[in-house]
Amino acid sequence: MSTAERRFTVAVVGATGAVGETMLAILAERQFPVGKLIALASERSAGGDVLFAGRKVDVHDLAKFDPTGVDIALFSAGGSVSKEYGPKFAAAGAVVIDNSSAFRYDDDVPLVVSEVNPEAVKNRPRGIIANPNCSTMQMLVALAPIHREYGIERINVATYQSVSGAGRSALEELGRQTGALLNFQEADPQRFPVQIAFNLIPHIDDFMENGYTKEEMKLVWETRKILGDDSIQVNPTAVRVPVFYGHSEAVAIETTRKVTPEAARALLENAPGVEVVDERKPGGYPTPVTHASGNDAVYVGRIREDFSHPRGLNLWIVSDNIRKGAALNAVQLAELVAKEG
Ligand code: A2P
Repeated sequence: MSTAERRFTVAVVGATGAVGETMLAILAERQFPVGKLIALASERSAGGDVLFAGRKVDVHDLAKFDPTGVDIALFSAGGSVSKEYGPKFAAAGAVVIDNSSAFRYDDDVPLVVSEVNPEAVKNRPRGIIANPNCSTMQMLVALAPIHREYGIERINVATYQSVSGAGRSALEELGRQTGALLNFQEADPQRFPVQIAFNLIPHIDDFMENGYTKEEMKLVWETRKILGDDSIQVNPTAVRVPVFYGHSEAVAIETTRKVTPEAARALLENAPGVEVVDERKPGGYPTPVTHASGNDAVYVGRIREDFSHPRGLNLWIVSDNIRKGAALNAVQLAELVAKEG
């Protein structure tokens, strides 16, 4: 069978989750050559169904599933599920594309943004490819072209991360708390440590010994690994905000060679996966709701010289964290694998 005709048995692990459901939608939307689609989740969802390409697909219990025959497995069911089942799927012959942080920092697992380092998918001795963290993903789609031309030495970034990054239960919590508070009831935080509706929380993932959170350190570790440059300094603050879909980032970079806003704009206008929205007037910038949510691009605006540094540039980077930040990039990696034949 020629490569053009080949169809793949694709398993989506975590198919009932916020990312898994979008993986299914994007596989269909981009007409990925799926021969057979297998939807997997926990025991509690088994027996139910999910939608793929307009039809219902049964959900199976991951713990009881035999991975023999799966060509490509997209995992988005959390780190512990990936750690336990990812290697089993790979041993059975599947290429595992993992959205968790379980393998991202292993030297023998490539960490790939499809627009930045696509060639890295080929070098996967364990049969596992890692999908980067959503915040790193959108930041690097925009910064990699600037790094290649001008050399980025340091990145200061504050993130404004939507609740969908924390999964379906977090989306529900924001909705529930918003309704409760508007009806003069208690917020009753469960998924987040404090109230998220009408608030923001400077804490995502566990605290580390150095005072940063793990979500912040992911930006440091992953930027260096993906750009293949351990000398890049990254200083992140990650904040959860009461937005349903779409992460935003206020980014200040320092480059080796000075890059003007005009040069950066020209570079980004031609960069794959990037859309520049940068008019200096009300509404002339991207926001999660007006631009990112439900769309594929990484939007960049507010491009301006950092007047506090001779080689500094500021950018505002917004993208749908569930799409480019997770599901879309995973499917793009699957497309790269499928092209290998
Ligand atoms: P389930 O719906 O059966 O719990 P989200 O990040 O939106 O919360 O989604 C997490 C996804 O991971 C869901 O599809 C969830 O399935 C799945 N999942 C969580 N724990 C397990 C597990 N132990 N085995 C298989 N799937 C799991």
